[in-house]
Amino acid sequence: MEPVAITEDKLETGLRGVPAGYCPTSEVDPDKGLSYGGYFIRELAQREPVEVIYLLLHRQLPNKTEIADFRKELLRRSTLPAGLEDYLRTLPRQGHPMKWFASGLLYLGMTGCTGNYREDCLNLIAWAPELAAKVIAVHQGRAPAPARPELGYMENFVHILNPDADRGRLTRLMRVFDVLHFDHDGGNLSTFTGKAVASGLEDMYGSITAAMLGLAGPRHGMANQECLDFIMKLHEELKGRGDDEAGMRRILETRYANKDLIYGFGHAVLRVEDPRAAVLFELGEELCPADPYFRTAQTLRKVGTAFLKTKDKISDPYVNVDAASGALLHACGLKEQRYYTVLFGLSRVVGISIQIVYERLEARGGKGTPIMRPRYLYSGPVRG
Ligand code: MLT
Repeated sequence: MEPVAITEDKLETGLRGVPAGYCPTSEVDPDKGLSYGGYFIRELAQREPVEVIYLLLHRQLPNKTEIADFRKELLRRSTLPAGLEDYLRTLPRQGHPMKWFASGLLYLGMTGCTGNYREDCLNLIAWAPELAAKVIAVHQGRAPAPARPELGYMENFVHILNPDADRGRLTRLMRVFDVLHFDHDGGNLSTFTGKAVASGLEDMYGSITAAMLGLAGPRHGMANQECLDFIMKLHEELKGRGDDEAGMRRILETRYANKDLIYGFGHAVLRVEDPRAAVLFELGEELCPADPYFRTAQTLRKVGTAFLKTKDKISDPYVNVDAASGALLHACGLKEQRYYTVLFGLSRVVGISIQIVYERLEARGGKGTPIMRPRYLYSGPVRG
């Protein structure tokens, strides 16, 4: 590994590029994008979510027997501790769904934690679709359908959610969405937070809850919600003409000149278009090519990239995963943006919990990593 000098200019910059450990599940190459277990995300995007979870857990794709056994294992673990739905009904409706999701995770921890990171990781993976679907349905004031995990991982999620939507189309989208969001190297904010909390030996559920609150912020997981708000605004400003490239260019120029944010672009690590975005744009062509917000998102991708490439100050002028995901979810029947980060969380708990198992039970020859304790340089007043 190339040595990284920690010089003063590296301080207060979000630890960009500073290595902190190993990630055995996924890698984000600045020029090639995300891979899981050595496979580029594009090669995995259409696979069954459970196969990709197996890959993240075992660092290899399953054969027929292995996947059949793993499906059985998840099915065996799929019954949630009793009382979750009643508990969710006691939460204040004005709370953001991500706060509900975090509360639900704490509830599962208080009622179903085994204290064994590996067991809790597998249980959490088995429970996540039901938890997320119930959080969304109950928050919306609707009755979730009784779980049917035998339908399949994302099929069960859509079934419990019980939405007023074309279920086939939504399930197709959710399967890909789930796979794309499972993991993103060890240093993204939610994963790093979850591992930091677990390094103090907090249990899996407390650590994952902390991670999900990291995901909840608009600079991280909530960017998908914010980005669809932005696309809707663009659509309005373009007077419904999502294909109007000249109009889009004028709007983006004005925003850039006013230092207003242009959502859906850039990434802390990537220096090419996020391959997760490319997969979603292709899927949108199949699932909702005529959808007005999807068309606006396509124009944003084309015009925004060309425009930002002309700006020397912009190190990553390409779209990220959030540029497309909201428009697709909306077109496939999930109309309320405030639930989108829960969908990201449903997926990301998989990668984070597997990375927590690695750091607690496998790293450093099985000893695990020590408690996180970076140094901060004192910059307050000096006395005496
Ligand atoms: C993610 O998927 O976690 C985001 O792209 C943010 C990141 O990688 O830092």
